[in-house]
Amino acid sequence: DPEVKKGVEAVERGEMVFIFDSDSREGETDFVIAASAITPDDVRWMRRDGGGLICTALADEVCTTLGLPFMADLLSEGAGRWPAIGNTVEQTGDLAYDSRSSFSIWVNHRDTRTGIPDNDRALTINKLAEISEKGRNGEAVVFGDEFRAPGHVALLRAAEGLVENRRGQTELSVALAEMAGITPVMVVCEMLDDTNGKALSKEDARTYAQLHGCVFLEGGQITEVYKEWVAQQ
Ligand code: 5RP
Ligand code: CA
Ligand code: ZN
Repeated sequence: DPEVKKGVEAVERGEMVFIFDSDSREGETDFVIAASAITPDDVRWMRRDGGGLICTALADEVCTTLGLPFMADLLSEGAGRWPAIGNTVEQTGDLAYDSRSSFSIWVNHRDTRTGIPDNDRALTINKLAEISEKGRNGEAVVFGDEFRAPGHVALLRAAEGLVENRRGQTELSVALAEMAGITPVMVVCEMLDDTNGKALSKEDARTYAQLHGCVFLEGGQITEVYKEWVAQQ
């Protein structure tokens, strides 16, 4: 698929791409960019023209190395002690579009002040890519030495095997990173429609991407190419 190839090359160059998951899932398009490449200007672009939640998706192996849990597991452990947590913890069947969310914890890099300005969020995200790469290379890393929680960047833990097990932008974006050969840590942010507050329609999102000279991909295209790519590894 030549479009997916273009998307992989754009991700490798640190450029923004757009991913629509599918009509049968969220039906949302996310801004997507490598965590290692994101700048404060990109954060501003995502929050102004995307308007959703700016999250950093990390490959499952990276989360295992760093020791990052799913938020639902963490909350389950606290459920007995905190009555409000008890039955708020996400259960299978709670979400209309998938069997579970990919949320992990929220963090700020220790060199940020409040954590929310564009430069603070870009720094936190760049450092997430950096510590992930160190961990992947076998360096001993202590996550809490560099980051504090809670913070202003939401982390997402990708499913093991990526699109084999889940097909959210969490997995789709990390699949692009793997194929691009970069650190499998990606930033995503949903596109909302300023005229009605809903998710931006696929056609409007596609038009927006074209207007900005960016690649627009659907989950199905990425899934197909990624499966072939895995089979060849
Ligand atoms: C975080 C989300 C977004 O939908 C984001 O695309 C990642 O989640 P998913 O993998 O479920 O699509 O919920 O704001
Ligand atoms: Ca979601
Ligand atoms: Zn999504």
